[in-house]
Amino acid sequence: MDQKTFDKYVLNTYTRQPITIVKGQGSAVWDDKGREYLDFFPGFGAGNLGHCHPKVVEAVQKQVTEIIHVPNVYYNNAQGELAKLIIENTFDGQVFFCNSGAEANEGAIKLVRKRNPSKKTIITLKDSFHGRTIAAVTATGQPVYHDGFDPLPGGFEYCEANNVEMLKSMMNDGIAALMFEPILGEGGIVPITPEFMMTARQLCKDHDALLILDEVQTGIGRTGKLFAYQHFDIEPDVLTMAKSLGGGIPIGAFAVKRQYCDILKPGSHGSTFGGNPVACSAGVAVLKAIADENLLENATKMGDYLREKLDALKTKYTIIKEIRGIGLMLGMELTIPGADIVQHCLKKKVLLNCTHKTVLRLMPAINVTKYKIDRVIKVIEDAINTQLAWGPQS
Ligand SMILES: Cc1ncc(COP(=O)(O)O)c(C=O)c1O
Repeated sequence: MDQKTFDKYVLNTYTRQPITIVKGQGSAVWDDKGREYLDFFPGFGAGNLGHCHPKVVEAVQKQVTEIIHVPNVYYNNAQGELAKLIIENTFDGQVFFCNSGAEANEGAIKLVRKRNPSKKTIITLKDSFHGRTIAAVTATGQPVYHDGFDPLPGGFEYCEANNVEMLKSMMNDGIAALMFEPILGEGGIVPITPEFMMTARQLCKDHDALLILDEVQTGIGRTGKLFAYQHFDIEPDVLTMAKSLGGGIPIGAFAVKRQYCDILKPGSHGSTFGGNPVACSAGVAVLKAIADENLLENATKMGDYLREKLDALKTKYTIIKEIRGIGLMLGMELTIPGADIVQHCLKKKVLLNCTHKTVLRLMPAINVTKYKIDRVIKVIEDAINTQLAWGPQS
């Protein structure tokens, strides 16, 4: 289909690049004209294993020939197997499955509200991102995403990321939960400091509130641990995940510590497609591939390598303000908007993302190689030089 016809029939809620992607394999994608691109932001954060990982493809193919969907009033093996794997790799508890990150956060919000009728307020962070449903978007601490959608649900307060004193001053016995990302993703790749994380954990304990960590973007090996909270000496009470968990197949989930597992009872929460066997088989294949192919180790090693290269660029170009992140979730903050750099990279067949206007977001597949990193660094440097020579191009 040509892009004009597409635009006629699909609601215009995204700023689309003018390429039609028809094929993917690992870190490469191809457009309908047969041109190959190196994808350094696969699946908008849902491609930690790259495109069409063979083990995910095999698992999905096998599952669709057996049964595609099983309603949640029956047992299905893939769902149970994925829940077991998630719990074995996090903390003792249980898992609820849904279809997206926003839904995972929505479920977590419902759980903490149901837990204690006298505690309804959830503290989230300014510049956070938790999704687009009406509660998740309200949890999102960026007014630009709220604009025009009022009335928004009440019960959300926003603290500055890493401002420990502000967090302490906002905390009281009426707070139901703290909810934040271990690294703010859409908010510009801002890692939460150990001090803020530890304080949040302690404050939740002191005030009988729950700690919800949103690992929709940081999870599934992105930072060199299966979940980013595992870099800290803490455990959340509720852990939300989605994106890469399905290796490209839509899925969302939240894990709950054992002592909070009886809050949501039959009838109080649900999802028709949540825990679908195709999505869960993909999830099982993803988690097994990460373990079998030592991908956490690769994410750490390649993360260090990419960071070294980005730091080297920073010493050469004053328009690079800061390099931030953990593992293969890295951001390069510029003193200028990053949109033209992204466009230049696209012309050179490299797909990148710019978030928060000035932060280039580099989140390649966690099985990426040094060779691919070198190629991308060259293209970024070329883009910076072009930008410096010609100034803004749009
Ligand atoms: C941290 C975080 N939470 C939640 C979401 C929402 O996920 P979804 O788009 O699957 O609803 C995103 C999406 O970018 C995210 O980055």
